[in-house]
Formats: sequence, structure tokens, C-alpha cells
Amino acid sequence: MNNQIHSMSDSIVQEINNLDNVSILKLDKEEIINLFKANGILLFRGFDVDVDIFKEFTNLLSIDFINYAGGAFSRRVINGDETLLSVNDFKSEIKLHGEMYYQQNIPLMLWFFCANPPLEDGETTVCDGRQFFNEISSSTKELFSKKKLKFNVRISQEDWQKKYQTDDLNQLEEMCRKNNTHLTVNEDQSILLEYISPAIIPSRCGKYQVFINSLLPTKQLNPKIINFEDDSEIPEEVVSELNEIAEKITTEISWQKGDILMIDNTRILHGRRSFADDQRDIYIRLCSPAFSF
Ligand SMILES: [Fe+2]
Repeated sequence: MNNQIHSMSDSIVQEINNLDNVSILKLDKEEIINLFKANGILLFRGFDVDVDIFKEFTNLLSIDFINYAGGAFSRRVINGDETLLSVNDFKSEIKLHGEMYYQQNIPLMLWFFCANPPLEDGETTVCDGRQFFNEISSSTKELFSKKKLKFNVRISQEDWQKKYQTDDLNQLEEMCRKNNTHLTVNEDQSILLEYISPAIIPSRCGKYQVFINSLLPTKQLNPKIINFEDDSEIPEEVVSELNEIAEKITTEISWQKGDILMIDNTRILHGRRSFADDQRDIYIRLCSPAFSF
């Protein structure tokens, strides 16, 4: 597989191209795993992939596929499979983030599949959380080491039942307990959720610090629900600093039909540029690696 691998220019993304006209299902699994562990992000391009092959390929390398209960956005289930979801809830920009970092149980690994590319714009953005950490000023690093992030959100009864895919309060309590999320149920059956998360985590190998969280899109889309754990506000200049770093170290992926992106969700942040057309159809699967990691 060696002659099929190259880096996108100036990029963290390792691209694996189909130069020998082989099936993606025939690629050397061990080699993929080693590349994934080293780089955290792989783009498979030029293979003949439809949605069934995408599922088969991801099933070879991943386990514990989850549905999106508790997720922040509405996602369309594809072909009746709750572990295969469309990401196009709306069309505006989504800033760099780790997937589902507003709860304890995050998927360790993400897969994206380009069922149909946008006519223009709508690139998926990525960056390495290790590099992000290295770029942050020492005063901001110190602030995040002292104070964790707190997500604090009120959700109506109708909305939590949809979001958590249940109308049973006991089940909701159980999900919140497993996610280390503090739940308050109000008289009108609306709920208040409170979750505290670090902005910076040690890498799984323990050698690096990684800036990965849901701070930037939350500040962008729903600023009232995020503060520090002591209820103090995250200073605007800190948010500006982080947005500047994010732009500086972002790699854009311009989708081609059939592209597959494999992402380490404990290290690589992702987001997307805005788009205007109705063509863009990108699917996602959330899971764990089927190998030691
Ligand atoms: Fe995401």
C-alpha cells in the first residue's frame, strides 16, 4: 500500500489513493491501523465506494457503533440504520470541535463518508489538537488548567424526548448518570443539564497534551450555555485567541464523491465551512476502534 500514501500539501491529513484499482476492502488492515495511530486522520480517495461498502469497510476496523442519543444536532438516519447518520442539519459554518465533548461518553473514533459533494464550499475542516495546544499562549493554558468548562442547558420536555430518543425519565436519569451529567427535572418536565469537561486532555499515550472540546462551536452557536465551572465567563479575548489559532492551523478537505475520512476523536478536531446548495450529503458513523488504541 506504500506507493498509495501521500500527505495533502501542508496538511496533517494522510491521503490513501487508489492507484492500483483495488477494492478498499482489500487494503492491508495492519497498515491502516499503524497509519491511523501515527497520524490520527486518514482520507481514502478514489476507491469505488457506495454506502454498503462504506459500512462494510468501517465494520472491519471499528466496534461499538453508537446512535446519536444526547447529540446536539438533528441528524437523519440513513437506510433505517441508526449508526449511519447524515450531518446536514443546517448549512452554516461549524467551528472546530471534538465530537460530543459536551458529555462524558464520547465516540473515540469517527468516520465520514461523502455520498455526494457540495457544488461548492462546504469543506470539512480539521486540525490536530496537539498542535492546537502548542499554539495556545501560556496564560490561556494556565486558565484552562485551573478552570474546567461547564455546559449548562435547559431543554423543554418535547426537545429532550426527541434528543434522548425516550420519554422515560428513568431512562434519561440513567443516561445522565452514565455521562456524569447533573440532571434537574423542573415542574413542567423541562430539564436542566450540567456537565463539566476539561478543555485540555492528555493524549491516550500520555505523551502529549491535546486541546479538544466543544468550546468554539458552542460559543458560536449557543454562547449562553457555556462558562467556566465557577460560572465565570470565558473572556472574549480568549475565545478570539482560540479562533485565530483554529483558522491558522486548519486543513480544509474538499469532498469528492466516495471519499472516506477516518478520525481519532481523542486528538483531531473537525468542523465545516458553510455552504449554500442542497447537493452536499455527508454521512457519519460514531464508534470505537476494533484494535488496541
Ligand atoms: Fe461534529
